[in-house]
Amino acid sequence: MKTHPITGAFGAEITDVDLGAGLDQTCADALRLALSEHLVLVFRDQFLSPEDQRALVRVFGEPFVNPYGPGPVEHPDMTLVIKEAHERTGVFGGGWHTDLSFLDHPPRGSVLCGVDIPPYGGDTMFASQQAAWDTLAPPMKEFLNGRRAAHVGKPYGIRWAPPVEEQAMKGSTKRGDPDADRERMHPIVLTHPVTGRKGLYVNPTYTCRIDGLSEDESRPILERLFAHSTLPEHSLRLRWTRGMVAVWDNYETQHYALNDYHGFRREMRRIAFQTDGLEAWTGSA
Ligand code: SIN
Repeated sequence: MKTHPITGAFGAEITDVDLGAGLDQTCADALRLALSEHLVLVFRDQFLSPEDQRALVRVFGEPFVNPYGPGPVEHPDMTLVIKEAHERTGVFGGGWHTDLSFLDHPPRGSVLCGVDIPPYGGDTMFASQQAAWDTLAPPMKEFLNGRRAAHVGKPYGIRWAPPVEEQAMKGSTKRGDPDADRERMHPIVLTHPVTGRKGLYVNPTYTCRIDGLSEDESRPILERLFAHSTLPEHSLRLRWTRGMVAVWDNYETQHYALNDYHGFRREMRRIAFQTDGLEAWTGSA
């Protein structure tokens, strides 16, 4: 197994591994370490079956059923991310976010497989929240240390729900849930339990205010953090090919699915995974 960094900040392409051939303990340990160090792992030409994908997920944690985007009855943990050629809606994940940060226990990461890829467009962007934290000004770090922020499930609730015509994957995602409007508080700074690196944990899709401040008072600070945390220097852009697999750390990165392939179909299979939750990530910042 060989590791090839994608940018100076984060991300690695892994070669010389066949993910569908069964992963022994040494290989699984190496993959876990690689994810801890690089936050996004990319594997080309893997063409994983749903069972292979789930076996890879189990290297990193337990399969997680997305309560707002469950898969078919036979694979409830498998979210099918599909946009048909004729659709002119938004896309699933079409804005900077970490997955489901408005839950009490957001998923720890995801494994995404490229099934049907448009000839151009449909890239996924990722941003390292460790790189974002590292490059914040010291007074801002001091202000954020030990604080929490409120997250709400805007697209899935009532208060902030987007208009129906803009909603992606209508019919397969749950909408209008009043519980998604309820605030959940999470630390603004997380500490990776393996590497000890710190990262920002706020995102423009779900984070609405800083604990102790109103939304109006929080807005200038959060807008500043959102802009900083997705700077090009902290980002990478993944150009998909069929059979490609990406694994990401959902606590230390944000991602963004680009909606620039009208007229072409795109299908991805996603299974998220869960570990112990955020408690292990609250080491002193
Ligand atoms: C997502 O998981 O948010 C969507 C990723 C993608 O379709 O590229």
